[in-house]
Amino acid sequence: MSQPSQAAVKVGLLPLFSTWVYRCESGPIHLNEGLEHLAHELMQNDGNATKRTNFGGWHYAFDFFELKHPQVAEFQAIMVQHVQAYLNHFRSEGHKKKDLFRLRGWINVNRAGDFNVLHCHPGCFLSATYYVKVPEAMKGGEIYFRDPRGPAVAMYETPGIELPWVGSGIGIPFSPTAGHLLMFPSWLEHRVEPFEGTGERISIAFNASNP
Ligand SMILES: [Fe+2]
Repeated sequence: MSQPSQAAVKVGLLPLFSTWVYRCESGPIHLNEGLEHLAHELMQNDGNATKRTNFGGWHYAFDFFELKHPQVAEFQAIMVQHVQAYLNHFRSEGHKKKDLFRLRGWINVNRAGDFNVLHCHPGCFLSATYYVKVPEAMKGGEIYFRDPRGPAVAMYETPGIELPWVGSGIGIPFSPTAGHLLMFPSWLEHRVEPFEGTGERISIAFNASNP
């Protein structure tokens, strides 16, 4: 293609369709001890457990936020603030507001070898995981977010040409640490890898939906 020699060729690259994951590294750790005790208390009753996407592990069967417990109420108030901050991040000054939504949550307790298969969370718009306890010598146990660009990840191979839009097939990993909070769009598929090591990992997951 010929160009007039003096003319500047203007191009731009537009990063369309970004997926925003909200990460807070300074969650309410002052609640962790109480939340851990609460998890252990609930685990005493077999009727409190269910199975969802978890292979192994303990999954609380009911809505965590329905529990009448001061630390649950405080945790909920803080999580509502985080959800609101996530939503308002994308609004310009003067357009930030208070939204109406409802949180429903559950507790996960995983030990070595337990994992969660690839899934998303239907029936809500935003999902989150807060890490109450993570074993110190934990190896593995990452949460992997799958590249949402569907077939782009594997539809055509180009030996020798690294295409920037072909993501990593296995997804993007996050290594959990106690006190960390991750929030993401509910349609973003994710899975949780098994870990090696002793001890348990306790997390509280929740969804935000219309009230
Ligand atoms: Fe999940």
